[in-house]
Amino acid sequence: MIGHSNSQDADKQLSVTDDLFKCLTEMTKSSAGEFFVDNILGNLQATVAVANSESGGSYPVGSLISLIPSEVMIKHEAGWNELTNDWEFFELTVSEQGSEIALRGTTEVVNQFGGNCFGCHTLARPEWDLICGTGHGCAPLPIDRETIANIQNSDPRCIKEN
Ligand code: HEC
Repeated sequence: MIGHSNSQDADKQLSVTDDLFKCLTEMTKSSAGEFFVDNILGNLQATVAVANSESGGSYPVGSLISLIPSEVMIKHEAGWNELTNDWEFFELTVSEQGSEIALRGTTEVVNQFGGNCFGCHTLARPEWDLICGTGHGCAPLPIDRETIANIQNSDPRCIKEN
């Protein structure tokens, strides 16, 4: 990746704290039903528009995407990190008490199965902005759609008492 910088520009980094992460059912589901989206700057419409586009697109700053509760991507300001298209990868510890950031970063973050987030997501064709979905060019996850749906439906954060 000659010419691409992996540095993170602090001036272009959004502040991300544990309390910004919501239970999946409080987020918006993509029209294909594959993943859930939010926008931590409040620009949800723009994020949903790209998520629901059949031809892809570049996600706006503040976009937050999740497939299963423990794995999240957030888009920082343009120029934050060239290699990841300004996405930061998060591995969360979730419980009825909420979300805690366990790991965060760019090319080095590894999920609970030992897989490197960036290593898989960078295989998505350019028009998909590192979002794998289905048929975007990524290698499949080691779990099937039914298992994914079961994990989505048992997000412990949604069960907490109000
Ligand atoms: C083995 C490859 C692989 C690894 C490792 C991986 N992912 Fe994914 N990820 C995928 C695939 C494939 C999908 C789409 C699955 C589907 O919808 O069936 C996906 C879906 C997602 C989604 C929903 C949006 C999308 O791209 O479809 C997010 C967010 C996400 N992963 C974040 C992460 C984070 C954060 C990590 C690391 C902590 C990670 N992933 C590790 C392959 C991977």
